[in-house]
Amino acid sequence: MPDSGPVHIRHGSNIGQPQTRREGILKVTGAALYAADHHPPGMLHAAMAVSTIARGRVASLDLAAARAHPGVVEVMTPENAPRLAQHPDEINAPFTFKLDLLQDNGVRYPGQPIAVVIAETLEAATEGAALLRPTYESEPARVGLDGAEHFVPQAVGVGQEAEAGYGDVVAGLAAAQTRIEATYETPAQYHNPLEPHAVIAAWDGDSLTLDTPSQGFAMALGRIAGLFGIDPSKIHLRSPFLGGGFGCKGVIWSPQVLGIMAARIVGKPVKLVMRREQMFGPVGHRPPTRQTVRLGAEADGTLTAVHHHTLTASSTFDDFFEPAGGVSHTLYTTPALRTSYEAVRLDTGTPTFMRAPGEATGSAALESAIDELAVACGMDPLAFRLKNYAEAEPMSGRPFSSKALRECYAQGAARFGWAGRPPTPRQMRDDAGLLVGWGMGTATFPALVFQAEARAELRADGSATVEIGAMDMGQGALTALAQIAADGLALDVDRVEFRTGTSDLPNGGIAGGSAFTATAGSAIHNAGGEVIAQLAAIATADQRSPLYGAGNAGVAARNGRLHRRDDESRGETYAEILARAGRPMIESRGQASREPSAQERYAMHAHGAVFAEVKVDPLLGQIRVTRLVGAFAAGRIINPRLVESQYFGGMIWGVSFALHEKAVLDPQSGRPMNPNLGEYHVSLNADVPSLEAILVEEDDPYVNALGIKGVGEIGVTGTVAAIANAVWHATGTRLRSFPMTLDKLLDA
Ligand code: MOS
Repeated sequence: MPDSGPVHIRHGSNIGQPQTRREGILKVTGAALYAADHHPPGMLHAAMAVSTIARGRVASLDLAAARAHPGVVEVMTPENAPRLAQHPDEINAPFTFKLDLLQDNGVRYPGQPIAVVIAETLEAATEGAALLRPTYESEPARVGLDGAEHFVPQAVGVGQEAEAGYGDVVAGLAAAQTRIEATYETPAQYHNPLEPHAVIAAWDGDSLTLDTPSQGFAMALGRIAGLFGIDPSKIHLRSPFLGGGFGCKGVIWSPQVLGIMAARIVGKPVKLVMRREQMFGPVGHRPPTRQTVRLGAEADGTLTAVHHHTLTASSTFDDFFEPAGGVSHTLYTTPALRTSYEAVRLDTGTPTFMRAPGEATGSAALESAIDELAVACGMDPLAFRLKNYAEAEPMSGRPFSSKALRECYAQGAARFGWAGRPPTPRQMRDDAGLLVGWGMGTATFPALVFQAEARAELRADGSATVEIGAMDMGQGALTALAQIAADGLALDVDRVEFRTGTSDLPNGGIAGGSAFTATAGSAIHNAGGEVIAQLAAIATADQRSPLYGAGNAGVAARNGRLHRRDDESRGETYAEILARAGRPMIESRGQASREPSAQERYAMHAHGAVFAEVKVDPLLGQIRVTRLVGAFAAGRIINPRLVESQYFGGMIWGVSFALHEKAVLDPQSGRPMNPNLGEYHVSLNADVPSLEAILVEEDDPYVNALGIKGVGEIGVTGTVAAIANAVWHATGTRLRSFPMTLDKLLDA
């Protein structure tokens, strides 16, 4: 029996190295072309007109005025918009949201597209859209978490139960020596990547070329193909660079499809770029939450019950329910646990996945509540957490595939200087008289793997090509994946051409859920491993090879050469093997994979601990974060420089969540009143504190072939509460409403 099994790969200079971004020079010199940078010949510009009411219908549009404007070519409204092969409210695939594509004149949220003006210039299209001056038949808007009737959703997140738990929470709380009940509010937030959604659509018969930023090519193709009644293979999507995603580019939203429809009716390529204020409506957001956490503990701090109730909001017409309770399923061991949800339907664009959906909001509440209970028990918050450390996942009872959270606590606390923290608040001041406070929070995020495929090709000269329809939102995935590609083939990274960024390459899966490097990386790793296995099978079966008879299990690959595992001197290069066999190349495909039995047996999560220092002006109430130390354990680290950067980014989101971000909705109209980056505050350079990220070692043999857990989103989890807990420690005031602005502190 010829042995064609895996060959031992001796890791070279690729995985684990702090390589700089491959596309860094392109980006800083402006040579990287983003979607809207393209200008195909004959291209026209499209501008959307969007609804200023929340609910009702468009009664009239001044089409004559718009059409008469110089340069305007066409105005697309429900009267002349192409009919679609599938109704945009039809949902027949996971991760699909209902769209607003001018199929009728109804309005179901503020900012909904109601017309598209197509013109020779951007200026003419924009002016044409302004000239439409819509009138409406308007109905009262349902705004805010108390704006409509509450109900229990059928499911939250991606199919999670809206009621879950075990044990008797009521009895557990009743039996507790100490208990707390606290309610935390988080506002609607909008993703706001620097690059707004944009599309350049060009039809050629039934074939469609698209430049549009996407976090998931195959899903985008499937959605668009369904709407236009064409085969996905007819669509060529290019998305080599994204100027940020944060979840809002995970699926195709209405504006991108409208750009494609516009190109169809004018018979020319069309560019549609969303204006910043248009980002606050039709492309998703993080919904508001009001979370009530009830906790009980025995005298020694042992938890007796955890109840985490979430009220959140979706749109009136579609379902996305922020799964904020999920963190309570994994973080602390407790004899009784319950998570529950209610929701309300509002006149808003449908919310969606945003920057650690569920875990960001949920950990803000749970980790604040844990701090409150620790204080009530008279215990140090870190000691309290260690007392209730989960050795197995509480909800499922499964052991963790790996969990180095203890080490995260220890290393983070040591680096931060946590041991010197006075237990009571208002004990520390700086030289300028500002109150200083220290707080901490636990970070956690699931370690997921989605489906993906990659192709690897090894050529006669010993060089290789690896192909995958992968995307880089700025997180550094392409660099990490190129390292994995080279490692999987046991080649130097310079010997591997790494091709990504377009939909004609093998399906790279979804850059989301912090699962992308694990997902695309597993596929790449497996494709390379299969190529090397084929190569070894050729050599070990050939009497002229020094590897003859060794069997694949007896062969190792290193730096473009196969050798006997028992004698490194006996071997030959890839090129020598292929030349003698007369093979111009070997190719293979690989799939992303996780051992199904491992999935059954283990709970898989990344963990971390975040320590925050804040300074608060006692007279003005101004809060600044001055220091953040995060220690995270996320399995194998492919590129420590880029992973540190991801942790920094997540912690900065945490500052932004804790102190800045909030969509202010007009209570009458439901319209966002601050739809711009001047008034929708995000953390800027001056707001970013001293940051430190500790990469805690963790070896996970189960999570996937490479032992990778995600690093993209975990940084925000834990950070929000760490800052809130530090504010309490500085001031003695508990702020339970985010963002924590100075008015709330002064009013408290
Ligand atoms: Mo992320 S919210 O899965 O892009």
